[in-house]
Amino acid sequence: MAKIAVIGTGYVGLTTGACFAHLGHEVVCADIDEAKIESLRRGEVPIVEMNLDRFVAEGIASGNLSFVVGAAEASKDCEFHYLCVPTPQGEDGSADLSYLEIAAAQIAPVMPTGSVVVNKSTVPVGSTGIVARVMGRNDVSVVSNPEFLREGTAIDDFLNPDRVVIGSRDQEAAIRVAGLYTGVRAPVMVTDPISAETIKYASNAFLASKLSFVNAVANLCEAVGADVNDVVLGMGYDRRIGKEFLKPGPGWGGSCFPKDTIALARIAEDHGYDFTFLREVLAVNEEQFDRTADKVLAVLGDDPASASVACWGLTFKAGTDDLRQSPAIEVLKRVSAAGVKIKAYDPAVGGQLDELAGVEVVQDPYAAVDGADALVVLTEWDEFRWLDFDKVAESMPGRAVVDARNLLDRSQLERRGFDYRGIGR
Ligand code: UDX
Repeated sequence: MAKIAVIGTGYVGLTTGACFAHLGHEVVCADIDEAKIESLRRGEVPIVEMNLDRFVAEGIASGNLSFVVGAAEASKDCEFHYLCVPTPQGEDGSADLSYLEIAAAQIAPVMPTGSVVVNKSTVPVGSTGIVARVMGRNDVSVVSNPEFLREGTAIDDFLNPDRVVIGSRDQEAAIRVAGLYTGVRAPVMVTDPISAETIKYASNAFLASKLSFVNAVANLCEAVGADVNDVVLGMGYDRRIGKEFLKPGPGWGGSCFPKDTIALARIAEDHGYDFTFLREVLAVNEEQFDRTADKVLAVLGDDPASASVACWGLTFKAGTDDLRQSPAIEVLKRVSAAGVKIKAYDPAVGGQLDELAGVEVVQDPYAAVDGADALVVLTEWDEFRWLDFDKVAESMPGRAVVDARNLLDRSQLERRGFDYRGIGR
């Protein structure tokens, strides 16, 4: 079993650390945030992520998982060093590598000879080379091992991945990194670092393209009178297309897809290729936010400024408390700009949101619909399907429902006199 330092305790770092500890390795996780490290030592996980708190608690109890302040402190006794720091979007759309470079510079003087540094963060093509240059050590290897973790199912995605990708020109280092995944059943693919980095970006951009395509198909279905639910079911039976990632919605978001799709278009441009296709994928997504907001405004009649709307769902998808680049927020900003009064409920959001100054966040789905002219569903939380719609009907003076996730049972609502509008049907 190996000694692994994990630098950065966000979604990726904490999941990586907890899962490697679960596989039997000795893992030290580091962060610059002292308060966060203190609470992690007590087993308190600051994010909503299925089973992560259990894995962290088990790791601490078994002695396989510990937490320290500072990258150098973690790396000094380890043979593997996973860089899991954020790579936020810079002002020009390219990824900002400063956290990565700082972490690399901090661990460079303390890493034992023969160490392997592993880039796990989503980093621009060529970053493995940049990290190697920043460290300036020829007795260590730098390898790319991109993550493909979805928020909400990150632990399962780590332990049951579709593939493990390792990018390295040093075969021995690649084999050592592959060895860390002993116990995980998945194809392991070894390639050069630039190809590994491209696999990560191209995978996210492809999935984002699939979603923009399906949202455009939903819009087409509305125009021709088809039902998108049946259309995607019929498409998904074709194994070349696949059943997953075919649900239309108010647009796609989250901490990865928008940032990575913009970054890949930028990387292409920097290397002399105009990836117009990706720019269209992004434009279709913006259009989907607009269309969803327009749908809500359309049911409010001529004077939206005197109307009030209930919203169910604020997070970028169900199963997470993450609001980064949430389509729900994009849509509500547009609706709110028309002067509409909005009350919103989300099971994972506890208080008011700075980015939605005009929106009142309430702690109960029925409080949100109280007095509303229309209800809009923007995140696909399963619990919304099982609410008491008699009670909803009693509380709402209006009867319009815009279900931007095709989540609710149309006939149940229509029986109660609601005017139901989904996406693409
Ligand atoms: C994504 C990738 O899936 C993951 O492999 C990568 O490592 C990180 O980015 P995540 O950001 O957790 O994961 O979100 P994901 O589940 O992929 O959903 C992204 C967005 O697409 C969400 O807004 C979601 O609601 C939307 N979506 C997803 C749809 O609208 N329809 C679908 O069928 C699937």
